[in-house]
Amino acid sequence: MRDRERIRRVVSGVTGEILWDEPMSRHTTFRVGGLADVLISPCDLEGLKTVVVRSQEEGVPLFALGNGSNLLVRDGGIEGIVVSLSRFSGISVEGERIYVEAGVSCPVLAKTAYRMGLSGLEFACEIPGMVGGALVMNAGTHKGEIFGVVEWIRILTPAGEIQEVDRKDCDYGYRRTRLPAGIIVGASLRLSPGRREEIGRRMEEALAHRRATQPLSLSNAGCIFKNPSGISAGQVIEAVGVKGYRIGDAQVSERHANFIINRGKATAEEILSLISLVRGRVEEERGITLEMEIRIVGRGQESAY
Ligand code: EPU
Repeated sequence: MRDRERIRRVVSGVTGEILWDEPMSRHTTFRVGGLADVLISPCDLEGLKTVVVRSQEEGVPLFALGNGSNLLVRDGGIEGIVVSLSRFSGISVEGERIYVEAGVSCPVLAKTAYRMGLSGLEFACEIPGMVGGALVMNAGTHKGEIFGVVEWIRILTPAGEIQEVDRKDCDYGYRRTRLPAGIIVGASLRLSPGRREEIGRRMEEALAHRRATQPLSLSNAGCIFKNPSGISAGQVIEAVGVKGYRIGDAQVSERHANFIINRGKATAEEILSLISLVRGRVEEERGITLEMEIRIVGRGQESAY
């Protein structure tokens, strides 16, 4: 109850939707996850600042949520406050530069660049996440990664201040970054002029490849593991023979072995057990330790990931 009061003090008066005891299964593409104590979607930067600063003062844990596309929330849910960036959805274009807010979806960003005849973001049409999450993990495909076009990112620090961080200070690499503490609220991207037909063709090709190779009609969280150096995780997982394996309603996709699909009522526990099984088998048979690409959060037994 004391925790509730502290949470109430953090969110009181903030403009935006506030949902108490909200099932995270409604906010993750896996359709899995227990209750968040509260989920708030502030309407503006002032509101977000208030939540960030007060949660520090009150000692309430805070978790920033995009569209839950690369995320596994445990069945025990999330303690404290989940703050959704979904209302931060502005995009402005000036010449070859785009300033994009964290809550814009990557496909919307890619389409905007296409409409403006700007090249460099074609790959982003097949990334299901929002820009904020894509920046945190330097999301990408074989055709490019988001840090390929970043100039600087804008972060709201735990002290409630806005900090701009230059790309060279983000220590980014394949599916990773090291950023100062805080919540990403936007980024400035630098693209190059291109012919719209060419840009459109590259986007179509990427989407066709994705449709042909990934299990898009079933709930999933994208690729589970990062690709080990020089090989695709999906290829290795298929080679050790666990494609199609199932624990409860969680199944290693028959279509792409680096995906786990939720066949309906999967629990986080089932998905985590399947992840352990796959990793164990790849480690035993190939001596490769697969690194997680998805983020695993929430109350419950801390896993080794
Ligand atoms: N393959 C198999 N078996 C499988 C899956 C793939 O043998 O079950 C083989 C394919 O035949 C191909 C190779 O592995 O020869 C590569 O497969 P794919 O083109 O599907 O690419 P990927 O390396 O598995 C990466 C990204 C995807 C992105 C695709 C397409 C990572 C971890 N994954 O997958 O990103 O959509 O390229 O650009 O970098 C994600 O990050 O969530 C994600 C899905």
